[in-house]
Amino acid sequence: MTPDLMEQGARRIEARMAALAAQSQQTESGGRSAGIGRVVKDREVDITHGRILYLDGVTVSFDGFKAINNLSLDIAPGELRCIIGPNGAGKTTMMDIITGKTRPDSGTVFFGSTIDLLRYTEPEIAQLGIGRKFQKPTVFEQLTVFENLELALKTNKGVKASVFFKLDSAQGDRLAEVLHTIHLADCAFSLAGVLSHGQKQWLEIGMLLMQDPKLLLLDEPVAGMTDHETERTAELFLSLKGKHSLMVVEHDMSFINTISDIVTVLCDGSVLAQGTLAEVQADERVIEVYLGR
Ligand SMILES: Nc1ncnc2c1ncn2[C@@H]1O[C@H](COP(=O)(O)OP(=O)(O)O)[C@@H](O)[C@H]1O
Ligand SMILES: [Mg+2]
Repeated sequence: MTPDLMEQGARRIEARMAALAAQSQQTESGGRSAGIGRVVKDREVDITHGRILYLDGVTVSFDGFKAINNLSLDIAPGELRCIIGPNGAGKTTMMDIITGKTRPDSGTVFFGSTIDLLRYTEPEIAQLGIGRKFQKPTVFEQLTVFENLELALKTNKGVKASVFFKLDSAQGDRLAEVLHTIHLADCAFSLAGVLSHGQKQWLEIGMLLMQDPKLLLLDEPVAGMTDHETERTAELFLSLKGKHSLMVVEHDMSFINTISDIVTVLCDGSVLAQGTLAEVQADERVIEVYLGR
């Protein structure tokens, strides 16, 4: 992008952010009620059966060791599901299977009631609307926060399309909205490299949000964050709940306590217990393998 175009883009976005701020003071929904900036997806997810994600009898072995062992689990649309469990329980491997990075040896993995995820490649699954946040932030440090978010819209497009890419009005609105959601509106034009660890994590979540995913998988999102950053991340996740479905793997129990409805405990590659945090914390088997006495 030429400096000239960048400046124009910056001015456009500043004007939109001001308009959005004004609007959010007028409406309870922060302007979201207008349905702005929705990215159109080729394929709708059928959630008429009340499930956005459905795993049944999933097993995967690495050199004869069952990392995932007859795992069955499902998630409702708009739900924020927390996953806990000891190291090596298979939490990351489960996300690898959902996102197409690892193929199970057997079992069923459905997105909604009609999309068989085992028939799709990793990039296709991202396109279908499943976003994944890995443990380490992977933002582009030499680019600004704004440019990182803009770049998130260009992924999966051809080189030519990327070179001539220009934000349309809906995308500009969405970018401004995401900047507010992830608490980075004040640093839109700072280089990502100067952000704190927590802010980099939020930026990466913002990059996922630019694609408007239906399901977000987040692996240990608050690891390494300060207490204050962890609190703001809890607020962020609670604000995403309902609009997106979320699966969050974490060890931080006070964070889980703030955000969770249903908690699933994984152990040895399958579900050991499920319920409210209080319920699973009182479960003898969970205390034995994970929480300790
Ligand atoms: N690609 C792989 N090759 C061999 N073993 C693996 C691989 N991925 C994971 N594992 C093993 O599978 C088990 C589950 O790992 P993981 O899913 O990373 O657990 P968690 O995220 O719950 O800590 C571990 O014993 C791990 O060593
Ligand atoms: Mg893991």
